[in-house]
Amino acid sequence: MKQTMYDTIKETAQFIRGQIDELPKIAIILGTGLGDLVSHMEIIRELNYADIPHFPVSTVEGHSGRLIFGTLGDKYVMAMQGRFHYYEGYDMKQVTFPVRVMKELGVDTLFVSNAAGGMNKEFKVGDVMVISDHINLFPENPLRGRNDERMGPRFPAMTEAYYPRLISLADTIAAEEGIRLMHGVYVGTAGPTFETPAEYEYFRVIGGDAVGMSTVPEVIVANHAGMKVFGVSVITDLGGKDVKEVPTHEEVQKAALKAQPVMTHLIKEMLKRI
Ligand code: HPA
Repeated sequence: MKQTMYDTIKETAQFIRGQIDELPKIAIILGTGLGDLVSHMEIIRELNYADIPHFPVSTVEGHSGRLIFGTLGDKYVMAMQGRFHYYEGYDMKQVTFPVRVMKELGVDTLFVSNAAGGMNKEFKVGDVMVISDHINLFPENPLRGRNDERMGPRFPAMTEAYYPRLISLADTIAAEEGIRLMHGVYVGTAGPTFETPAEYEYFRVIGGDAVGMSTVPEVIVANHAGMKVFGVSVITDLGGKDVKEVPTHEEVQKAALKAQPVMTHLIKEMLKRI
């Protein structure tokens, strides 16, 4: 009989179960330049993507590929250091495969981070933005194709794609600690080009606050699988018709590095309180 995606997911999860003593309920996907969170973790076990059956292997500069199990903010979590981007040539099933595996391992809450370009005129480089909602502009939805009901419904609601209680928790922590925490709509695009000035304008006009090349596929699949999601963007560059600076991968990484401590602290505090 032909192996279904569900069988493949189960095989990968089975392998991972064999490598760890405790199953995580919380997973974190770390975006570009945001891998430093791992240095705050008490690491119990690390698995290279290359050693995990059926796992894609990440290729892009600045993204190392490891699954890390350990504690952060007194919670046992699994972290993905390096994600799979659509622009790298992976298909949507590969991009979102790790999220399916997380679910199969018993994860019910997913934290996702990314670097993003800001269109909201209030934003500054280095700001941290809680994702309140997203606009999917990828050319393909990861749920396209036959739906396997064991993994989720055919037509999942996306009304609370970013779990409101986690957003309020982030706000509470930010207010207590005087952290400048923005809120906004993340526009997900395929990339790999950064936007033209007209495109940044367009994304702002349709309701976007920040734009990036990841996150939306994973969040769609996490919602399909019934997981609670918290998303956060680090604003690494600004775009629009009045912006003269040209974004580069190096600038994005530099800005992400600088804003990391705030993001890491926020996630750590949130973990302590959930
Ligand atoms: N556009 C798209 N993706 C990005 C950007 C941007 O300006 N900055 C970081 N990731």
